[in-house]
Amino acid sequence: LKYSDRIKNQKIGLVRKFTDEANKLPYNDKIFLSIGVPDMESIDYLHDGVNEAFEKGYTRYTPTAGMDIVRETIAGQYKNRKTAYPISKDNILLTAGSQEAIFLLALATLDKGDEVIIISPAFFSFKRCSTIMGAKCIEISYKVEDGKYFLPLEDIKANINENTRYIYVNSPNNPSGALSSREELRELSKIADKNGIYIVSDEVYKDYVYNGKFHSTIEFSDKTIVVDSISKSFSATGFRIGWLLADKDIIEKLLPAHQQILFSISSLNQYAVHYAMNKEDIQEKVSQRIDIFKERHDLVYKRLNKMQGIECPVSEGAFYLLPRLKPEISINGTDFCYKLMYEKRVILIPGIDFGASFENHIRIAYTQDIKLLSEAMDRMELFVNDLIG
Ligand SMILES: Cc1ncc(COP(=O)(O)O)c(C=O)c1O
Repeated sequence: LKYSDRIKNQKIGLVRKFTDEANKLPYNDKIFLSIGVPDMESIDYLHDGVNEAFEKGYTRYTPTAGMDIVRETIAGQYKNRKTAYPISKDNILLTAGSQEAIFLLALATLDKGDEVIIISPAFFSFKRCSTIMGAKCIEISYKVEDGKYFLPLEDIKANINENTRYIYVNSPNNPSGALSSREELRELSKIADKNGIYIVSDEVYKDYVYNGKFHSTIEFSDKTIVVDSISKSFSATGFRIGWLLADKDIIEKLLPAHQQILFSISSLNQYAVHYAMNKEDIQEKVSQRIDIFKERHDLVYKRLNKMQGIECPVSEGAFYLLPRLKPEISINGTDFCYKLMYEKRVILIPGIDFGASFENHIRIAYTQDIKLLSEAMDRMELFVNDLIG
């Protein structure tokens, strides 16, 4: 079979590759801190919601953009948030996870010759989806000052040209946990507005905030396209329910492409999300989980910064930390992860998957309970001490 120029050089990402390789290892004391999947069960209302969907007979194709009641429920999630324009169901397109939203947007808007700006370290799909469409990715690193990440506003301004289509922003960030402030996002919105370009705001970790407050450029600019999902907030990555929020003209333009990909997303799961989001105590259930993640974050962050040869910037959200290996650790992030996996059965992800300049970083997803996380940190400390000698 002849493969298209678009896909022939595409490879399976390192997160999946490491996790699959580790799964095959014949040990029963492996600790997975690799994949971005919360360890807790999915929010139980989803279970009841799927059952009710069956009872009501929602087992067929739905309208292309999703069921009206579900789009209304999701639009309702923005009622308590400040937005640059009022959000209704017409601004919502339901997608198979936010991943489809990212891909669909790239498919529908990027051609060869177009450019996108990626603030790295960044979730790898921004680059992969853009390059599949032939667009050029301009990667600009966050500024790190006093161990804290800031949006590189001046560098972003300097890299915008007539080919720039949008800037991807992801706060709280995968893989660093960085949370961008209201002021930074307001400035970024001004830059986008002034240059007539869009911001693609990936908000899948919006509930995972430990320090500070979540903000979005949708508060300031109608040139924001939000991608989001229930995957992380409801611990429901397998449901594949996400959405894209944008001006209704954009939604209408995206519909034909979305239709050709899958007609419409799972009716049962759509309804289950509608059911769960309308439960009075749903946010309380989510918040209880975030408290547990905060405790885990604090433990891992402290332990990492005590290890010799490791330096970890402050993280304020998501469920990842991205420590840097100092020069006294004489191997790069990829070799570090391989050795740690084979010698100590702790599975992390090399930083290189999140940006070319992160080859000496490693990503840790603290998606296990405190006991396992302590054990993983003990093993990693021994490993690092051995490496330094
Ligand atoms: C930043 C970010 N965006 C989007 C996704 C895609 O998630 P989903 O398609 O499950 O919504 C992920 C998954 O890890 C992610 O980390």
